[in-house]
Amino acid sequence: MSNALELYSSTEPEHLNKIRETIALHKYTVAAELGTHIGGSIMHIAVALQMNGGGRIYAVDNVQKMLDETAKNFRTFRKEFPDVALTTYCSDLPFGISLLPNDLQFVFIDDFHNAEHVSNELGLLLPKMAAAGTIAVHDTKNPVGIGDVFVSNGGTLFNEGHGLGIIQVEEPLS
Ligand SMILES: C[S@@+](CC[C@H](N)C(=O)[O-])C[C@H]1O[C@@H](n2cnc3c(N)ncnc32)[C@H](O)[C@@H]1O
Repeated sequence: MSNALELYSSTEPEHLNKIRETIALHKYTVAAELGTHIGGSIMHIAVALQMNGGGRIYAVDNVQKMLDETAKNFRTFRKEFPDVALTTYCSDLPFGISLLPNDLQFVFIDDFHNAEHVSNELGLLLPKMAAAGTIAVHDTKNPVGIGDVFVSNGGTLFNEGHGLGIIQVEEPLS
């Protein structure tokens, strides 16, 4: 593997591209990911933040080994995003959202793929978003229901692969 974007991720390349494009388009500098695995999608967030001049990523997972792997991979590819900081929290979600700051600009939800769980996460995340921000969720197609949760919150669905949902927050919702 020659660069960070080649690290394995269960998120499809077209969705990872959309995540990078969204962060770059809006010049975001503060991001979080719920459900990191080994950090495959974190690499894409980090590369995009670096394009904006740097920033911070908060990573939450309930398996410490996954966060250790994520941090190790982050160090391995550090030279590709020297101005991006990573903070990890080992915590069950949605509780772990309470550990996050209140100025989030981009959040990628990819932990427990269950509609009620994602709905609970959205309820906790929306008040934590900065004045303008984006919340993305993976696996909107299967299991059924996560896509509906996003659409009912004003989101847009992209149906390639397992599906990606995006909610654009234009003003504080708390
Ligand atoms: C699908 S993987 C994430 C893949 C990663 N986003 C990527 O694209 O490379 C899901 C991760 O969520 C974590 N997870 C699942 N349920 C969770 C929960 N209730 N609380 C916190 N983490 C959870 C798992 O430990 C796993 O690392």
